[in-house]
Amino acid sequence: ERGEFRHYMLKEIFEQPRALAETLEGRIHNDQVLEAAFGANAHQLLDEIYAVQIIACGTSYHAGLVARYWIESLAKLPCSVEIASEFRYRQPLPNPNALVVCISQSGETADTLAALHEAKRLGFGPSLAICNVPESALARAADMVLMTRAGPEIGVASTKAFTTQLLCLLMLTVVLGRRNGTISELEKVIVRSMRTLPEQLNKLLLLNDTIKRLAEKFADKHHTLFLGRGVHYPIAMEGALKLKEISYIHAEAYPAGELKHGPLALVDADMPVVAVAPNDSLQEKLKSNLEEVHARGGQLFIFANHRAIMQASSFVNVIELGEINEYISPIAYTIPLQLLAYHVALIRGTDVDKPRNLAKSVTVE
Ligand code: M6R
Repeated sequence: ERGEFRHYMLKEIFEQPRALAETLEGRIHNDQVLEAAFGANAHQLLDEIYAVQIIACGTSYHAGLVARYWIESLAKLPCSVEIASEFRYRQPLPNPNALVVCISQSGETADTLAALHEAKRLGFGPSLAICNVPESALARAADMVLMTRAGPEIGVASTKAFTTQLLCLLMLTVVLGRRNGTISELEKVIVRSMRTLPEQLNKLLLLNDTIKRLAEKFADKHHTLFLGRGVHYPIAMEGALKLKEISYIHAEAYPAGELKHGPLALVDADMPVVAVAPNDSLQEKLKSNLEEVHARGGQLFIFANHRAIMQASSFVNVIELGEINEYISPIAYTIPLQLLAYHVALIRGTDVDKPRNLAKSVTVE
């Protein structure tokens, strides 16, 4: 089962290239995402959609946060994302033209299921479940289903479920954008970059040894800060969740622009700062945030496309990911952060696959 791998989590991290290929299988054709992938009734159900409401918990919520950047910037539809346990008790104002997207690996998360029922009761529009378990309660309750096809995920820390959710959400963005007339030629570019994912991820998994060495610098720390901007801010959040969940090191994610508004006070040599720093339009801004961390004696771990982002030193570690297409970049940057959490947990000797106090599927609220 685990085969050559020491833990399910590691096996599942390494399964991602194959899982993502599986997610795409039969769903793209001639550089287009097939609407039929969302079910036979999708054509009709997506007809009157002018907004998107995403609901989820934990890692699945982070996938939803990434999707908001995609859906608003590419499909040009207003998109809200909310944690299920908040949504269900908040009495949100229903929008009958909002597609309700519930994201859940297990499809059995009590709050997500209850939030879907609440959205229906309140009068939101049709629902779509993005789910990894076909016969799950969520998959049965939603009007449309897009299976992530990650295969069984045993490790409590979600890995391949997250990256396949992201790919499903990018497919959804493309379908919505095509309907809304906002992506035209871009569809080809996005679909082609989706196809490169397995190959890209195989390359990124080669960072395993580098990250293993890096993890030694973390293992004795008590707190960590994860920074990102834009679509990569939720990736920083996911990196922080992975680390706290399996290594029990306190980790917090901040949008880098918030640094000055509080967290900078925490920065010193004992508080490593992890930055998700892709080569995008926000990189310069992020760089000046990182300079501030550096000036205060903080230890930096920068994940970037190119080494040149900052001069390496004993305080500045740059992990080079290489050139990555912007549309798949959040998926790609997830990989080294999963590996980091894994190796830190390994050094600390925690129960990686079954972290204390947590369950794989949270069927009670
Ligand atoms: O099965 P779900 O995707 O609905 O689960 C949601 C969360 O419980 C889950 O993502 C949790 O946060 C993971 N343990 C994170 O690794």
